[in-house]
Amino acid sequence: MSNPLFFSSLLILLSLSLSLSPSLGASDLKVYGLSSPFSPTKGMWEKNVGEISAKDDARLIYLGSLVARKSNVPIASGRQIIQSATYVVRVTVGTPPQTMLMAMDTSSDTAWMPCDGCVGCSANVFVSANSNTYKSYGCDAPQCKQVTNPSCAAGVCSFNLTYGGSTVAANLSQDTIILAKDPIVNYSFGCLQRVTGNSVPPQGIIGLGRGPTSLLSQSQSLYQSTFSYCLPNFKSLSFSGSLRLGPVAQPKKIKYTPLLKNPRRSSLYYVNLIGISVGRKLVDIPPSALAFNPTTGSGTIFDSGTVFTRLVAPAYNAVRDEFRNRFKNATVSSLGGFDTCYTVPILGPTMTFHFTGMNVTLPLDNMLIHSTSGSLTCLAMAAAPDNVNSVLNVIANMQQMNHRVLFDVPNSRLGISREVCT
Ligand SMILES: *[C@@H]1O[C@H](CO)[C@@H](O)[C@H](O)[C@H]1NC(C)=O
Ligand SMILES: *[C@@H]1O[C@H](CO)[C@@H](O)[C@H](O)[C@H]1NC(C)=O
Ligand SMILES: *[C@@H]1O[C@H](CO)[C@@H](O)[C@H](O)[C@H]1NC(C)=O
Ligand SMILES: *[C@@H]1O[C@H](CO)[C@@H](O)[C@H](O)[C@H]1NC(C)=O
Ligand SMILES: *[C@@H]1O[C@H](CO)[C@@H](O)[C@H](O)[C@H]1NC(C)=O
Repeated sequence: MSNPLFFSSLLILLSLSLSLSPSLGASDLKVYGLSSPFSPTKGMWEKNVGEISAKDDARLIYLGSLVARKSNVPIASGRQIIQSATYVVRVTVGTPPQTMLMAMDTSSDTAWMPCDGCVGCSANVFVSANSNTYKSYGCDAPQCKQVTNPSCAAGVCSFNLTYGGSTVAANLSQDTIILAKDPIVNYSFGCLQRVTGNSVPPQGIIGLGRGPTSLLSQSQSLYQSTFSYCLPNFKSLSFSGSLRLGPVAQPKKIKYTPLLKNPRRSSLYYVNLIGISVGRKLVDIPPSALAFNPTTGSGTIFDSGTVFTRLVAPAYNAVRDEFRNRFKNATVSSLGGFDTCYTVPILGPTMTFHFTGMNVTLPLDNMLIHSTSGSLTCLAMAAAPDNVNSVLNVIANMQQMNHRVLFDVPNSRLGISREVCT
């Protein structure tokens, strides 16, 4: 690894965000790189987690008794509710509980939320002073060694990270959080004290990555690193989607593909994408554009925080050209970051993503986005930005809407089935 910058600097996640307008009309696409808040595996954390979990035996027995039931958390599109192009869940934090609408991010591990005293945060903050179970971590806490850029101010462990185009600084804190019914006590998260830029979800994020500080790791005994979600259409106004935590009540009839592990990007859910068909035609994509390579970070991930699927340029161009072939006589135009838009009605073709052991054919609703006036329909995908770090294909939330996506970490597999949650 000759170039450490390569890994420490973001890029990994490309997130396209439509401007606040819920429909395409006035929108302008911005491309963000998101970085992991935690540095790649250091060994340290595993050791600490080992020590911490050794003390938890009694607690595990208690928690084990809780997991027999279904834990469902409603999901809504954040677009209308908090003007953020993300999917949000209600999380209650502290004692007495305060409600936050936090964005689900499968590619981040740590949670963070705006807190009292924050400069640059939006109005709805978690008032830590009103919670009698809130505590900030001291600088000697083992958890403090896991965060990026840790520093010590007035005896409090603080850290900062970049998220999209924003920089956030937070106190590392703990408090009780509840997503479904079960309280998770002493949950570690960042209590934001400063935010610059405006690309952070206004009420914070809940990290559903597979790394050590994520919700999965911190609720291991309760939910056993297993969850699934159904994301409603991004235009939906209600909490009609669901985040299902734990192995109970997960779908049995579902297609699976193996999850791949990248030790250098321990939070990400990599899968092996082996091809893409447009209609029946398998598109000719250079294998290198899809290959998983832990060293360069290349390959394909599923991400709940990115809006539109991004493919590395050779893959995107091939797919797009095949799609355009179907409309040879129609005029192609572009809109924002989309380069394949038509004024004629688009009634096909569908697109199939071929993964190891699993083919996923996307309905048109997952492929096309319509402008406000309805006069323009665009292929809702784009090429990864043209820079040296663009090696990652991201299967984004627009392409996952109205499907059940199951993250089964213990069995190292990801499942998908069609499920309409509107
Ligand atoms: C982030 O933390 C590092 C280390 O404490 C500090 O040097 C840097 O100035 C901080 N950056 C921001 C943007 O706060
Ligand atoms: C964050 O830490 C600073 C000390 O560095 C402290 O003054 C502030 O009250 C803390 N805020 C929260 C919400 O923990
Ligand atoms: C939670 O943290 C508090 C304060 O650090 C501690 O007293 C308590 O024992 C912890 N509870 C559990 C269940 O770990
Ligand atoms: C395109 O236009 C040509 C000439 O008008 C016509 O012969 C052909 O059938 C059209 N193709 C499609 C796919 O509509
Ligand atoms: C996926 O589709 C390809 C091409 O149509 C086919 O050869 C393959 O058997 C399918 N795989 C599965 C697991 O259905």
